[in-house]
Amino acid sequence: MNVPKHGRAGDELVAELRARQAGDTDWRHGRVFSLVYHASDAHEQLMHRAHSVYASANLLNPMAFGSLKKLEAEIVAMAGSLMHHPGAVGTVTSGGTESILCAMHAYRERARSGLSAWKHVLGRPEMVVPTTLHPAFDKAAHYFGIKLVKVRVGKDYRADVAAMEKRIGIKTIAVIASAPQYPHGLVDPIEELGAMAKRHGLPMHVDACVGGFSLPWLEKLGRSIPRWDFRVPGVTSISADIHKFGYAAKGASLLLWRSPDDIRHQIFVATDFPGGIYASPTMIGTRPGGPIAAAWTALQSLGDA
Ligand SMILES: Cc1ncc(COP(=O)(O)O)c(C=O)c1O
Repeated sequence: MNVPKHGRAGDELVAELRARQAGDTDWRHGRVFSLVYHASDAHEQLMHRAHSVYASANLLNPMAFGSLKKLEAEIVAMAGSLMHHPGAVGTVTSGGTESILCAMHAYRERARSGLSAWKHVLGRPEMVVPTTLHPAFDKAAHYFGIKLVKVRVGKDYRADVAAMEKRIGIKTIAVIASAPQYPHGLVDPIEELGAMAKRHGLPMHVDACVGGFSLPWLEKLGRSIPRWDFRVPGVTSISADIHKFGYAAKGASLLLWRSPDDIRHQIFVATDFPGGIYASPTMIGTRPGGPIAAAWTALQSLGDA
């Protein structure tokens, strides 16, 4: 196929795109699990409108797009409050996988610096995790030369704290668990794991890609939800997808940190590029504005109540 010699009319192209979708799964009527989170047709239209306002904006340069940087900061602040740490710092990413890649990379860099630098000398750093952890962590481990020490879950399919503690060793640089995990929708015992991580002086990441924007409201509705967020002292970072139960347009997740000390390990800076200093906090370079604007709009338009 070649690019057409002469450009085609926009209306014709959009009609063709719609026609091409005819055979896809009917997600608007609930025919997919987990791939699309559809609040309502009206909300979807609002996402399209908000997205289009910032469709050409690029947060790679926050000085050029100050308003987009402010939207990101407000998303981080809203999520920090929701997860009981209004002082949380963080970044919007393109999805759960990117949040996880950024977290794993930052923990590796953290281990290479400061007090735990000696662990790097020992070779491949390790993270102790339950077997139910999402494969995005395997991908990150593969990319960044980290070994996931996978520990079988208990009879209740939740992380087995005692079994995980036994696997903590000299190369361990972090503990990870989920709220909830994908295979069974169960929240791991985050309080017990957080206490265990703290006892060993280790940071702990909670993967709340699914739970980040659902568990807070289930709790407000009176459901009994085990503690999983920044109220657990050992939790140092959380991944939470706005494009799942935050009902944002696709391409929006969050990586939140308890402390600014930790987020600095996430940021990449190249200083010897002839084009100027290049600094970037996430895996991607160009950071599309549309998903960030839509995510801000989703949280503002749906509201807490
Ligand atoms: C628990 C959990 N973590 C991470 C992810 C990865 O998210 P994404 O597909 O947005 O990269 C998913 C996706 O379903 C998930 O369920």
